Amino acid sequence: MIKVEHLYKNYSDKIKVLKDISFTFEDGKTYAIIGSSGGGKSTFIRCLNMLEEPTSGTITLDDEVVNSPSTDLTKIREKMGMVFQNFNLFSHMDVKKNVAYALMKVKGMDETSAYKKAIELLGNVGLSHRVDSYPHQLSGGEKQRVAIARALAMEPEVLLCDEPTSALDPEMTTEVLKVLKGLSHTGLTMIVVTHEMNFAKEVADYILYMDKGQIVECSTPEEFFTNAKTERAKQFISNML
Ligand SMILES: Nc1ncnc2c1ncn2[C@@H]1O[C@H](COP(=O)(O)OP(=O)(O)O)[C@@H](O)[C@H]1O
Ligand SMILES: [Mg+2]
Repeated sequence: MIKVEHLYKNYSDKIKVLKDISFTFEDGKTYAIIGSSGGGKSTFIRCLNMLEEPTSGTITLDDEVVNSPSTDLTKIREKMGMVFQNFNLFSHMDVKKNVAYALMKVKGMDETSAYKKAIELLGNVGLSHRVDSYPHQLSGGEKQRVAIARALAMEPEVLLCDEPTSALDPEMTTEVLKVLKGLSHTGLTMIVVTHEMNFAKEVADYILYMDKGQIVECSTPEEFFTNAKTERAKQFISNML
């Protein structure tokens, strides 16, 4: 469980982004975070694993305060994997090494086991034939699937995804969303910032609608798309559909 309490994030005195967010993410559920650009979605999920440091408030993962100076951030990021819009692969490493690297460095696995595990994980995302390629030889959809395999290698409890398909064309979007959909049934907690309304509708257990640095609404997809609670959400939906 991730418990967020009174989270504020200011980038400066003038740029105050997150405004008193309190929310609890339950284990094993899939959350889609939607909302207009600039509303603070990226800032919010980056605060969850301390890629951005909250200005105030607390984030707790399994009873451990994430944003405390004594917290081991490597451990936290092992538990909370992240997938970015622009993949962030290591360009000088082939695909299998991209996945094996953290298994050796972070999990302390020996090389043979790490590569064996990497190849298995890449098989799970449909990339068995690509393990020897370098990132520049892959399509965007393939790159993103490598990034997902790499995040899963840490056996995280939580997978954070920040617009994982927004750099992809529709066909590649479909293949990446299929992988994420498969993961949503595995007990992993997923928090996915997305503009893909069909994904939000079909896969998410809950939709969080964010606007101007706040979670305006949390609903099931059914409630959200048929009977949103707030005018702001209704307006957003009508602009999206
Ligand atoms: N590193 C940063 N420094 C200053 N301002 C930032 C930074 N990152 C984001 N912002 C600002 O914070 C606001 C929210 O941005 P962001 O969290 O990226 O929103 P979203 O992901 O919903 O589009 C925007 O006004 C953006 O310009
Ligand atoms: Mg963003």
